[in-house]
Amino acid sequence: MQEEHGFSISRRGVLLTGTAATAGAALRPSRLVARDGAPAKGGPAMESVTLTVNGQRHELELDTRTTLLDTLREHLKLTGTKKGCDHGQCGACTIMVNGARINSCLSLAVMHDGDELTTIEGLGTPDDLHPMQEAFVKHDGYQCGYCTPGQICSAVATLEEIRKGIPSHVTEDLTGTMRPTNMEMRERMSGNICRCGAYSNIADAMSEVAGA
Ligand code: FES
Ligand code: FES
Repeated sequence: MQEEHGFSISRRGVLLTGTAATAGAALRPSRLVARDGAPAKGGPAMESVTLTVNGQRHELELDTRTTLLDTLREHLKLTGTKKGCDHGQCGACTIMVNGARINSCLSLAVMHDGDELTTIEGLGTPDDLHPMQEAFVKHDGYQCGYCTPGQICSAVATLEEIRKGIPSHVTEDLTGTMRPTNMEMRERMSGNICRCGAYSNIADAMSEVAGA
């Protein structure tokens, strides 16, 4: 690269300088704060996050790498939501965020500042079960139960998706009234794996709640 203003710089030098500047901007000193408020000196970047979980507001100071799943289980001690694969492949960690289901292991808590979360603990209690929980009990929709919180959260959100007319891969009529058929429910629940193979009973439980 040609010399200007009395100094020379190579193309490689420009690239390195640019990269360093970008990295520096991403890791602003104000973000590198330890739990006690002191500069972290290379420690984790912390961020304030406010979440409303099952109607209760929580203000948290979290490592920006913390997933929503770990926030629930490790920080809020809501262990109903399960960790299966931690890679978005099993659905055990399914919760609802602002009414829509997501895999909480795939989402960072800092992405949900101000959001409303519903976990299995927020759907019902042992003395006052949600209709979907009652139906799972009635139809034996589980064996070991590890996948069950995710299955139930997913099932509740699935019926809501059908009610709203959101199509799935197997929806044949995109303009007519959507019906909670066995095929619709199985397709929509395909992201929730049950190692015990309780699928048929889960579909029966969902059908009862859907009134199908
Ligand atoms: S633990 Fe989240 S999908 Fe398996
Ligand atoms: S009930 Fe055991 S994994 Fe589903």
